Amino acid sequence: MTATRTPAKHFAPLAIGAPEPYRALPVRLERMIHFIPPHNEKIRAKLKDTIKQVDVVLGNLEDAIPAGEKEVARKGFVSMAREHDFGQTGLWTRINCLNSPWALDDITEIVAEAGNKVDVIMLPKVEGPWDIHYLDQLLAQLEARHGVNRPILIHAILETAEGVKNVEAIAAASPRMHGMSLGPADLAASRGMKTTRVGGGHPDYQVLADAAGEAPRTRYQQDLWHYTVGKMVDACLSYGLKPFYGPFGDFSDSAACEAQFRNAFLQGCLGAWSLHPSQIEIAKRVFSPDVKEVLFAKRILDAMPDGTGAVMIDGKMQDDATWKQAKVIVDLAKLVASKDPAMAAAYGL
Ligand code: GLV
Ligand code: MG
Repeated sequence: MTATRTPAKHFAPLAIGAPEPYRALPVRLERMIHFIPPHNEKIRAKLKDTIKQVDVVLGNLEDAIPAGEKEVARKGFVSMAREHDFGQTGLWTRINCLNSPWALDDITEIVAEAGNKVDVIMLPKVEGPWDIHYLDQLLAQLEARHGVNRPILIHAILETAEGVKNVEAIAAASPRMHGMSLGPADLAASRGMKTTRVGGGHPDYQVLADAAGEAPRTRYQQDLWHYTVGKMVDACLSYGLKPFYGPFGDFSDSAACEAQFRNAFLQGCLGAWSLHPSQIEIAKRVFSPDVKEVLFAKRILDAMPDGTGAVMIDGKMQDDATWKQAKVIVDLAKLVASKDPAMAAAYGL
């Protein structure tokens, strides 16, 4: 058996003076993690409005930021963190990966200069629990040094074959873990998948129906990410963490983006990345539960006040298990309603 900390030590701060780790994650609505390039002044100038439109703003320092702009991006992130009040909107950053020349300065400068503003650090290319342990310890030391008053959480990107193999150990690695996102572009490369896309399906990944006489055989395109999302959701929910679908790179195909987000939502994910402003509304629509589903779920809860027994609603059997499903949907609807008065009215909450 691999050695792990005792339960008591698991929840002890890793540095004297660092804040206590959370026992349970703060309750937050995180339907879209909206990526912005912090070295781009024009985009930073619009941030005040962006903050109002999204659940999470993420300053991206990793892939898509040119090597020559990495330091400008980091400084840009620090100034946007200091200049704005984010209110209920989360502030995250995606730092460079741990073996890169930039990661150490990303972590030390951001905690020193904006540690009390940042909610979550997204760590790319996580391969195993050792990556989380390293960042966990370093963050605790920096939090203690800079007087950070609540723990900065870690969100892992699941985007290497080894990371997927170790997903449970990553989820279990620290009470600082917030959740995970599927990174389909890097994961495809790491696995040797034969694709050139950033997420979404592939026309050649399909099943072919049996031949039936002369009739043309139907082909059904399948979800390339089904297995990985399922594995990630199980690992995350076992440890009380939040699973997310990551990026969808074809901005011209909003229908396909919506379909991919919806599969992830139905499988248990709580949000996805928005890389383009057009994807904000898609994520909002998909990751807010459907009004009809919420109204039906409320009927289940009302019909079974103590959550036990069996009742029939519209010919459909309900019992303790459907009550629990209904509660997942209604709890999420309440969270959406608390932020969005129009949705609150539609849900009747
Ligand atoms: C995201 O980082 C990805 O590689 O898909
Ligand atoms: Mg990646």
